[in-house]
Amino acid sequence: AAPSLVSTGELPQPEQVQALVTEAYERYRGTADGTVADYIPALAEASPDLFGICVVGARGRYAEIGDVDVPFSIQSVSKPFVFALVCEAIGYEEARLRLGVNSTGFPFNSLMAVELNEDRTMNPLVNAGAIASSSLVPGDTAEDKWENIRRGLSRFAGRELSVNADVYASESATNLRNHGIARLLASYDRIYFDPEQITDVYTRQCSLDVTVHDLAVMGATLADGGMNPITGEQVLGHGVCRRVLAVMATAGLYELSGDWLYEVGMPGKSGVSGGIVTVSPGKGGLATFSPPLDVAGNSVRGQLVTKFLAERLGLNLF
Ligand code: DON
Repeated sequence: AAPSLVSTGELPQPEQVQALVTEAYERYRGTADGTVADYIPALAEASPDLFGICVVGARGRYAEIGDVDVPFSIQSVSKPFVFALVCEAIGYEEARLRLGVNSTGFPFNSLMAVELNEDRTMNPLVNAGAIASSSLVPGDTAEDKWENIRRGLSRFAGRELSVNADVYASESATNLRNHGIARLLASYDRIYFDPEQITDVYTRQCSLDVTVHDLAVMGATLADGGMNPITGEQVLGHGVCRRVLAVMATAGLYELSGDWLYEVGMPGKSGVSGGIVTVSPGKGGLATFSPPLDVAGNSVRGQLVTKFLAERLGLNLF
């Protein structure tokens, strides 16, 4: 095996980054493991062959390959970015008090986790905490909250994002469980808006279309202390940015977050449509897109590519 690059304060030279991104793509494109998510019917239609990789450096240079322009619904990768908007609005201490920041040790859509935690907070990266997080986004009406989420996530991506209508309709017709989670939280006063309406906002949030390029820009914004390196906009303050990364390190890959940090050494977030974003502070954001998932709901190729590139690009924090 080629030696890993020593972790320095910078990414390697752009040609070297592109060569490694290409190598990762060639190495893992033939991997056939994993299953495309089908609990949301519209997601089951995604081709298992879709595969894209993008790295965006903290100064805005990028390297990419494969299906980098193909839109897919952002799903759970939206969660840390909405949490960031909430921290900006109410402060990261208040956000911690109202949402919690500890890992649950349970699957992302667990109700048991709510029942077992005495103060009924979770963390903003599992469904319960994420729906509660959406409820804290500024706005008097569901429509205002929704527009603040859509606009806020667009600032991270550096372009206007919009909803995938098919995924939204499909998930709306099948998300009884999320409605159940929201009502359970409401029974403990741990949701901060009408549970039914906010579950709808959360479902729209998960249905926002992004590309793997967008996700890498969003990750690079977190790598750059909250400044989008493409648009130059300061989307977040530094204090918020580092707390968002802390929560991603703790809970970004759900109950496998400990294994992830042990192996990859970077905060990350995965989603059931096959996206994974990881962040190496000061260096950049790495995003992968490949729909087949493992049993925990994380993209199989995405994990392989991320492990490979974390090592070769020197992204590991430790
Ligand atoms: O709430 C749900 O079930 C989906 N909209 C999002 C789930 C998701 O991406 C979890 N990821 N691994």
